[in-house]
Amino acid sequence: MSTPGAIQLDVHLSDTDADTALRSDVRRGLAASPKELPPKWFYDARGSELFERITELPEYYPFRTERALLTDSVDDIARSSGADTVVELGSGSSTKTRLLLDAFTRAGTLRRYVPQDVSESALRGAIDELHRDYPQLELHGVVGDFTRDLDRLPGADPGGKRMIAFLGGTIGNLMPGPRHDFLVHVRSVLQPGEQLLLGTGLATDPAVMVPAYDDAAGVTAEFNRNVLHVLNRELDATFDVDAFDHVAVWDAENSWIEMRLRATRDMRVRIADLNLDVAFAAGEELATEISAKFTPATVDAFAAAAGFATTRRWVDPDARFALTLLTAA
Ligand code: SAH
Ligand code: AVI
Repeated sequence: MSTPGAIQLDVHLSDTDADTALRSDVRRGLAASPKELPPKWFYDARGSELFERITELPEYYPFRTERALLTDSVDDIARSSGADTVVELGSGSSTKTRLLLDAFTRAGTLRRYVPQDVSESALRGAIDELHRDYPQLELHGVVGDFTRDLDRLPGADPGGKRMIAFLGGTIGNLMPGPRHDFLVHVRSVLQPGEQLLLGTGLATDPAVMVPAYDDAAGVTAEFNRNVLHVLNRELDATFDVDAFDHVAVWDAENSWIEMRLRATRDMRVRIADLNLDVAFAAGEELATEISAKFTPATVDAFAAAAGFATTRRWVDPDARFALTLLTAA
């Protein structure tokens, strides 16, 4: 049962788990052609801070567009949901979530907030601030990987109902196969009638999308290169981080932005903890993230394929971002 004001933090990613996962991702990704790394390794404490700076950039429209959509829709969402527990995946600093928490409080149903993130530093910071500002709310943070640890999220209280929020367009950072597997997994942990609130970027003019991932101040470039700092620190690697250029391109065929790091010269990188030497040719690219952009129809289709029905949708006037309330069928 919920206890007002209680705080709990479960850490499902031990240092050993994270280290094993990083080693296996790096071994596999650097042996692939083209080379690739999964985006979750951006988010050490510095990466999480850089993401926060990205959300304030004039070019990075997704954050403020979703925030405006939430502002318009939260009371409808809270009324239609009736959830007593809001779970959030990839919650980061939980900044926009406050709009939801306020609306569920106004609706009189909210008892518990369960933020889940791979970044322990972001999660701890968010919980401290939320406890200060929502002293009555039960907070149950979960450090974990949303592609693996969903079964470890707390269940519904007896007679209770949960709504899972997955905001920011983070679902677009998953490749199509893993995206489907992830949604099937989310559906499997929900009871029929429980809901998923999904934020998705929509495909729009590349002249708008590309600068959002290649800002004039170079913050996204630093965020992208941060993954190399993570490898240098965690795996005793010798990447010359400044010798990689940030690249962001729109792939129209796949409807996603792709971020890459391009080697500016031939180099050999030693990854001591893996006993591995990796060669980069000048101009060779390492793929670090996709950020897929959808249409309302493609969102409905991938949601339906995982057992969700679309209940409501909000789209901004420029049709750049959608917030979709999905119900577990
Ligand atoms: N939801 C927030 C933050 C988005 S940034 C917003 O909308 O602004 C993406 C967040 O997802 C980061 O906090 C990052 O640490 C987290 N994340 C990335 N991959 C993850 C994974 N596999 N499992 C759990 N969290 C992940
Ligand atoms: C977290 N995710 C939704 C961001 C995005 O827009 O795909 C990550 C990001 N990458 C570069 N800028 C922001």
